[in-house]
Amino acid sequence: MKKPVDIAQRLEALLSAARRVRRTEGLGAVLKRAPWYFFNRLFTYQRWYIHEYELSNARLWNESDFSPMVAGYLFRVVSSNEEADALESQGLEFRSCSPYSRQKLDRGGIAFCNFLNNGLVNIAWACTTQKSMEYVKSPPLNINFANGQAAIEGVWTHPGYRGLRFNQYNLYMKHKYLLGKGYTKMYSWIEKGNGPSRRVSLKCGARECAEFSIIRILWWEFWRGNSCFLELYRKCKKKRPHL
Ligand SMILES: CC(C)(COP(=O)(O)OP(=O)(O)OC[C@H]1O[C@@H](n2cnc3c(N)ncnc32)[C@H](O)[C@@H]1OP(=O)(O)O)[C@@H](O)C(=O)NCCC(=O)NCCS
Repeated sequence: MKKPVDIAQRLEALLSAARRVRRTEGLGAVLKRAPWYFFNRLFTYQRWYIHEYELSNARLWNESDFSPMVAGYLFRVVSSNEEADALESQGLEFRSCSPYSRQKLDRGGIAFCNFLNNGLVNIAWACTTQKSMEYVKSPPLNINFANGQAAIEGVWTHPGYRGLRFNQYNLYMKHKYLLGKGYTKMYSWIEKGNGPSRRVSLKCGARECAEFSIIRILWWEFWRGNSCFLELYRKCKKKRPHL
């Protein structure tokens, strides 16, 4: 009984991602990316960094040093489906830009969002439980959720609003929020070559604590990493519905 639901969820997430690209970058971008997306289902080779953040660093930070370069934005933290529904009822765009938002929020995921004129211009998720990682495309890391650690994923800024420091502000607010909830560390994984993401992360004090690469051929995955990666690595057969 479970399989068809998973397939339906995957299809829904894929369509939602395609709709988001069409809305923000046009049909041409969808058509250009589609063959690459399907090729990647057959074969992938990627190289990544793992970034580690000490949340206590944020105690010394000033919000004004991290604020977006435009006025009128609205920042919101969404930590339950009730809060997400309340946002939508106020006319703020959330679900259509956030694949698996229901499942993630049910499992301990928290969304950090920036809105401009009611449209979502930037979002990033924090996973605070192992269960919330079930709907996340992630390396098999042994994050100690029970002891104040969290993971960042699903980071995205609307292409029309990139370079305005929305992601920087989002990362700052994640530090502040999670620190206030008693968390001590966060981890993220950033593909080598993703200059903007790496830059924001390092600017916000991240330590590049490990490197790894992955080769995926159909459903076989092979991970290779430096010794720090191996410390964090965990052979978990976790379910990743959208891979
Ligand atoms: C990565 C991403 C979230 C950044 O969002 P953003 O809101 O534009 O980020 P910010 O404006 O806060 O900061 C971007 C920084 O990168 C810099 N930058 C831009 N292009 C760069 C490049 N090619 N190389 C290095 N730095 C670059 C900008 O100058 C800026 O730094 P500055 O504030 O010191 O000038 C956005 O590009 C995105 O959504 N990309 C697609 C999805 C993605 O890659 N997600 C991250 C997965 S780990």
